Amino acid sequence: MKKAAALLVLTMTVAFAGCGSTPQADGTSAESNADLEAGTEVSEAQDSEGEDVLADGVLTVGTNAEFPPFEYVGDDGEPDGFDIALIKAIGDKLGVEVEVENMEFDSLVASIGSKIDVAIAGMTVTDERKNMVDFSDSYYEAVQYVLVPMETGIAAAEDLAGKTIGAQLGTTGDIMIEDFEGATAKQYNKAVDAVNDLIGGRLDAVIVDKNPALVFADKFSDQIQYMDFSFEPEDYAIALPKGDTALADAVNGALAELKSDGTFDELVSQYIEN
Ligand code: ARG
Repeated sequence: MKKAAALLVLTMTVAFAGCGSTPQADGTSAESNADLEAGTEVSEAQDSEGEDVLADGVLTVGTNAEFPPFEYVGDDGEPDGFDIALIKAIGDKLGVEVEVENMEFDSLVASIGSKIDVAIAGMTVTDERKNMVDFSDSYYEAVQYVLVPMETGIAAAEDLAGKTIGAQLGTTGDIMIEDFEGATAKQYNKAVDAVNDLIGGRLDAVIVDKNPALVFADKFSDQIQYMDFSFEPEDYAIALPKGDTALADAVNGALAELKSDGTFDELVSQYIEN
């Protein structure tokens, strides 16, 4: 939620309450209005710490739409992809509207609690990120793949030593480059820019998550290929404000429902297996 929106809902609630009618702001669930009503003394203070981010009926979601098939900019210029469809389905279950903000991947975690409520971005659960945010139950298993030119001397992970390797800034692929002795890391705001440098001969390899790697390798199949060196599996989860267990329970509950009612699998086949 954004502060202005929260205050607007509050003002409307109070105004309507004065007329003796049931307040029901557009897109706001009865339940969240009930929360607002119950706390007549909902104050600005509550808007920052321990607030109910769903109370205004809007879940503001950060993503980085440079990561097909999980998120990309669709033909209409709006973010689309598996993650976007998933978070919208979660929003439906929770009775809130989902507003997607497309931003740099590297600033997502720090923006939770200010610019955005939560982030969904094929984001891997890591201990370092857990210092700043909480994560939902994980919803997808991933692994890093290596993209290389058609002609390459790289055939195993050891061969990455001493090479110039590209990755999207702040990703697990980026962080991994330091594991390869003498390797030079080149960081990009978008994985596709690293892929372009790989095609242009300015990089020896690009490290990126499996599914985007498959998309890029397919798109530029004459120039590049992907390699699976069996790196450690990773788990994708939705990043949530630290300590907001009510929100975590709500999101995990919705996720569990989407898994049991078949929606989740439908989205997997529509966006990922397709
Ligand atoms: N899974 C990797 C990570 O968490 C890469 C995610 C990149 N996502 C994106 N939407 N650009 O670091």
